[in-house]
Amino acid sequence: MDRAKITVRDGLEKDFPAVARIQQQCAEAAQWPLGDYSGCRLLIAELDGRIAGFCTWRQAAPDEAELLNLGVAPDARRSGLATALLNELERRAAGDIFLEVAEHNHAAAQLYTHRGWVPVGLRKRYYPGDINAIVMKKGSC
Ligand SMILES: CC(C)(COP(=O)(O)OP(=O)(O)OC[C@H]1O[C@@H](n2cnc3c(N)ncnc32)[C@H](O)[C@@H]1OP(=O)(O)O)[C@@H](O)C(=O)NCCC(=O)NCCS
Repeated sequence: MDRAKITVRDGLEKDFPAVARIQQQCAEAAQWPLGDYSGCRLLIAELDGRIAGFCTWRQAAPDEAELLNLGVAPDARRSGLATALLNELERRAAGDIFLEVAEHNHAAAQLYTHRGWVPVGLRKRYYPGDINAIVMKKGSC
């Protein structure tokens, strides 16, 4: 059987409804209002031509970037979409990349750890419901 084809590209305004749909399906992702992605950089992952994942990020300083949100549609998970998005993010971002992940989000923590992010801090009661956030960092070298 042919492997599914993954492509990653810049997100456009026309992608906002699809991104909002995926975001809604990802309880662990930050739930941003539709179109709120315009202040940051948006990457879209397609699986066989269908939008199935996204991430938003920003270059916070010349040597520091931040992953703001990441989500993959439930029926497209474990196909390498988040990996492809993070590969592209790492290619584009300059310097260290930071992110926050909920303490109980083992899937995401596993993904980041697997890719070389390391925990560097804890933000207590950062998320609604008094959930702690782990701050993780991937160094540029
Ligand atoms: C976390 C998430 C983005 C992973 O997306 P994905 O496209 O399925 O990830 P990939 O297929 O690229 O997985 C790469 C690796 O991450 C790890 N991983 C991903 N999902 C995992 C899970 N459910 N359990 C354990 N490890 C997991 C594995 O090491 C995996 O490699 P493998 O499939 O060879 O074992 C996805 O589950 C998701 O959208 N979750 C809800 C939203 C969310 O948690 N966002 C992150 C907020 S910080």
